[in-house]
Amino acid sequence: MLSIKLLKVESRKLKREILFTSDTVQQRVREMAGEITADYEGEEPILIGVLNGVIFFFADLVRSIAIPTKIDFIRASSYGSGTVSKGEISLTKDVEIQVEGEHVIIVEDIVDTGLTLNRIVDHLEEKGAKSCRICALIDKSERRKKEVSVDYCGFKLEGGFVVGYGLDYGERYRYLSDICVLK
Ligand code: PRP
Repeated sequence: MLSIKLLKVESRKLKREILFTSDTVQQRVREMAGEITADYEGEEPILIGVLNGVIFFFADLVRSIAIPTKIDFIRASSYGSGTVSKGEISLTKDVEIQVEGEHVIIVEDIVDTGLTLNRIVDHLEEKGAKSCRICALIDKSERRKKEVSVDYCGFKLEGGFVVGYGLDYGERYRYLSDICVLK
């Protein structure tokens, strides 16, 4: 199955370079989980993953955290009814768990403009979350439009189009274990 996918990629002559190997990513995820474990000892925070790109990071992170947690997911879209981005974020799937009075950690694969996370933080605070922190695997600063305070950051990047480990380019490359940059 994997070899079929690789063949398809090669045939399209798309170039990519490994930025962070799978081992490096896994090591960093364990470190982030350790930070969260230490900070929330005695608590049972709710981890909210922002679909879809977060899936692998979320699964690895949650299983490396050594305290009890609850999980749920949220989904946002930066597109309105048309095909051109309006810079407006709509929530296309809400959390179903009760967040009022709870410690919440929003888990993202990448922060780019910051618009998505600002919208989600506002939304969860409106729902009455007791605290709201952000955990992002990649904090990419080049296109930032709204300030985001990332409490747990895996890797900082200035720019580049990164794929793999859940991150996509037109829905492709999410399956890669390494994080790569498209050339
Ligand atoms: C990506 C990423 C973040 C968001 C960040 O999601 O996973 O959720 O964009 O962008 P921003 O900081 O500019 O708002 P996307 O909408 O591409 O969906 P996906 O997770 O399904 O790939």
